[in-house]
Amino acid sequence: MGARRRSDALRPLSDALRTAFGRHKTARKGLDDRVASTQDVPDLTDVGAATADRLKRIAMAISLKVNGVVHSVAAEPDTPLLYVLRNDLELNGAKFGCGLEQCGACTVLLDGVPTRSCVRAIQDIGQQEVTTIEGLGTVDKPHPLQQAFIDEQAAQCGYCINGMIMTAKELLDRIPHPTEADVRATLAPNLCRCGTHNRIVRAVLRAAQANGKT
Ligand code: FES
Ligand code: FES
Repeated sequence: MGARRRSDALRPLSDALRTAFGRHKTARKGLDDRVASTQDVPDLTDVGAATADRLKRIAMAISLKVNGVVHSVAAEPDTPLLYVLRNDLELNGAKFGCGLEQCGACTVLLDGVPTRSCVRAIQDIGQQEVTTIEGLGTVDKPHPLQQAFIDEQAAQCGYCINGMIMTAKELLDRIPHPTEADVRATLAPNLCRCGTHNRIVRAVLRAAQANGKT
């Protein structure tokens, strides 16, 4: 009877020990899992080699002629031209819209040809001259297209206007007196989410009237 009472008295203690042992087993398993997962960490030798290769590629500075000035740019060769213009050369006229060659906000001229700079790698520019909207006119002496866009109040938010002007620049160089249909067809691939297309078309026609060849 005395032995039974002793065993009843010890039961809470043995229950507590069982619970503690169960917790220990669970914690130990979690620790083992974490140790096993470290085996998935990539070989740091490979990471170091990749970093060295990247640095070597960056070290090969690329020469770009932009708005008549030659720049030496330390960037990876596959960097999009738009990133270099905005981040390295601080020419922020060209905008990042879609990054997919779809909207035209990033348009610059490459040897006079409208080009989507968001997808054009700097290694592919070569000797071609880049013209950005900063290369057209200044605040004091705007290009006739820039002046016409101001006169027609063609911009609402203004995000698309760089692409519209650079695309229109090539049109007026090629066709000094375009018809309205020419202007509409040329600018059709350039998107304007504000819907100011009619004022933009009027601005381009005004620039053509004002200046003939721009
Ligand atoms: S940002 Fe280049 S086409 Fe849209
Ligand atoms: S003015 Fe806003 S996107 Fe064209």
